[in-house]
Amino acid sequence: MKRWFHAAWILMGLVFFVGCSVESPVDIKAVTGSPKTFVGSDTCKMCHLEHYDSWKMTLHSRMTQDAVNNPDAIIVEIDEATIRKDLAKLEDQLKVPSDKIYVPKLDEIRLTIGSQWKQRYIVEKEGSLYISPIQYNADTHRWVNYHEEDWDKRPWVDKCGGCHATGVDFDAKTYRELGVSCEACHGKGSWHAALPKTAVFEKRQTIVNPAKLTMGVSVQICGSCHNRGKATKVNAGWPVGYAPGKALGAFYESTSYAGGDTKHLYANEFSKGHHQQYIDWEQSKHAREGVTCTSCHYVHQVGMPPTRSQTLSAGSKQCLSCHEVVNSNKAHSIHSFANCVGCHMPRIAKSAESGDIHSHVFLPLLPEDTLKNPKVPNSCQTCHQHKNQDLKELDKKYKQLAVLPKPTGSPVR
Ligand code: HEC
Ligand code: HEC
Ligand code: HEC
Ligand code: HEC
Ligand code: HEC
Ligand code: HEC
Ligand code: HEC
Ligand code: HEC
Repeated sequence: MKRWFHAAWILMGLVFFVGCSVESPVDIKAVTGSPKTFVGSDTCKMCHLEHYDSWKMTLHSRMTQDAVNNPDAIIVEIDEATIRKDLAKLEDQLKVPSDKIYVPKLDEIRLTIGSQWKQRYIVEKEGSLYISPIQYNADTHRWVNYHEEDWDKRPWVDKCGGCHATGVDFDAKTYRELGVSCEACHGKGSWHAALPKTAVFEKRQTIVNPAKLTMGVSVQICGSCHNRGKATKVNAGWPVGYAPGKALGAFYESTSYAGGDTKHLYANEFSKGHHQQYIDWEQSKHAREGVTCTSCHYVHQVGMPPTRSQTLSAGSKQCLSCHEVVNSNKAHSIHSFANCVGCHMPRIAKSAESGDIHSHVFLPLLPEDTLKNPKVPNSCQTCHQHKNQDLKELDKKYKQLAVLPKPTGSPVR
């Protein structure tokens, strides 16, 4: 009797199992006939767990976070007295006195933006989201002001939204998911996700794989956010209307020094501001040769341990993987010890504090660049900055190094 009972259960289980594993045919036409929408990373996770897992370790996934459900997203104590004390130190630069600046209470903070260099806090006012006028700089552990005079006239969705969240609808002021998620780089995923696993080719055709696009269009995906400028269609800071695979230029116009932006660029068009890597890179020989962001950075490399800034390898190794031979004159001859990045990607741009992030033009800035225009920094003075070091002298010595050494020894007979 007992045995019969067991057998019945097993049989029932088997019927259930078989019933479920026979996939009901999915009507491909019906799927691709419906409007394409954003589905969110939780859906992608069901089939691409390893990509999801590795993306979760990157800062893209943590850019904008829900501080209500996850208070740990706030990296510092929100203590009004400390904040005002720091703001008071900046009194002569403030447009609102330090004791009058709006400082949000912990329970007013809805979202956090950033965590690495700096953190800003989003609050709600009359149904819209705004960036509150305080900023925490992580490396220097200090509070600074941020648009204290007009913070409640700068809606987050318009100014920042599309670069910090995924599936942002500019008109409805909504977003599908916080942070830079799968569909920010792969496009709307509803068709792809709904198709059965067996429809491999249809699946491939319904999602953007950046590796299969032409170089220019592919790198513009990164360029849609690692860029600074304005939307071409509406008044917004991000490329409203752009989607991975499209031509960025139709939706976004980058800023430039020649165009009047002296705040975010140096006179030689090297970046002074952050999120401008694409602007730098476009000027480089790497851009012309097809060395793109993903030649040096991973976004979700399966099995890759997290490195600083998601580089494929650390320091000079990154460069030496392609540049096996570097000429032995110029600055190279005398600095064999130094890191390529130190001279070729000097930290001349600012995220939280001046000089925290790297140039992406890959060209060293020479003493003569600073001699020509004192506002342009150089790659050399991070080391050569002793009190009495004369830049003109360094320039002269460098120019001697730049001459190829003449062969020495007696001529061959
Ligand atoms: C139901 C399972 C399933 C879901 C859900 C799913 N995928 Fe896929 N995905 C697949 C399969 C199967 C392939 C084809 C694998 C192959 O090319 O061999 C694929 C391929 C891809 C490719 C490569 C396409 C190519 O041309 O090489 C990308 C990119 C991708 N998926 C991204 C996503 C993203 C982003 C999401 C979430 C929006 C997602 N997938 C959701 C199953 C899924
Ligand atoms: C910041 C942009 C970005 C984000 C975010 C992103 N991807 Fe990708 N993905 C890429 C690029 C670029 C490639 C092309 C491969 C490469 O160059 O590394 C790619 C390739 C893929 C592929 C094809 C197989 C492969 O590894 O080459 C799959 C599948 C995929 N991504 C899934 C996902 C899923 C799932 C998520 C979210 C959990 C995600 N991606 C988030 C940029 C992104
Ligand atoms: C939707 C906007 C968006 C897109 C598209 C995008 N990024 Fe980003 N990226 C960001 C933001 C925002 C951050 C800052 C995240 C943070 O600090 O929390 C970031 C950070 C990074 C970082 C720095 C990570 C670190 O540890 O410091 C790298 C490297 C990077 N992105 C590379 C890429 C590459 C390569 C692509 C294209 C394949 C790409 N991004 C596409 C918005 C984007
Ligand atoms: C065109 C896209 C774009 C726009 C618009 C934009 N950002 Fe960003 N932001 C980025 C990218 C990309 C990064 C990471 C790379 C970098 O900082 O160089 C970043 C980084 C940040 C960080 C630092 C993250 C960290 O971990 O330290 C903060 C904070 C931030 N942005 C706030 C804002 C705010 C607030 C706005 C709107 C007023 C805004 N951003 C507008 C693309 C953008
Ligand atoms: C030739 C290699 C190379 C290329 C190409 C490249 N990067 Fe980088 N990137 C680096 C290195 C090296 C760092 C510094 C790593 C470190 O901090 O140790 C870096 C740092 C960054 C950072 C962190 C902020 C900073 O400057 O410290 C971001 C964001 C970034 N890169 C985005 C991009 C984007 C977007 C592109 C394409 C437009 C790109 N990179 C192209 C090598 C490269
Ligand atoms: C994926 C391969 C690759 C990587 C990685 C790479 N480069 Fe290059 N680089 C090239 C190619 C290709 C060229 C163009 C051919 C040439 O001039 O040798 C180039 C050119 C250059 C030039 C010459 C620029 C000019 O205007 O003459 C400099 C400088 C340079 N790279 C520096 C670096 C540095 C620094 C790194 C590491 C952060 C690096 N590269 C990483 C492939 C690479
Ligand atoms: C002390 C600073 C310094 C360091 C360190 C350095 N470079 Fe250079 N590099 C220069 C200067 C200066 C030039 C010449 C730039 C010019 O003429 O405008 C140069 C030129 C180059 C060029 C252009 C082509 C050539 O050979 O002249 C490449 C490629 C290059 N460097 C790669 C590297 C790589 C790879 C490393 C790391 C192994 C490295 N550099 C380390 C300063 C440096
Ligand atoms: C990482 C630190 C570092 C950077 C960056 C650096 N240098 Fe140097 N440099 C040194 C050191 C240390 C010496 C002394 C080496 C010795 O005496 O053997 C030196 C020596 C020199 C010398 C010969 C010694 C002298 O002063 O008479 C010249 C010329 C020179 N550097 C030029 C440059 C130029 C030009 C750049 C920028 C493109 C540069 N350096 C960037 C550290 C650096």
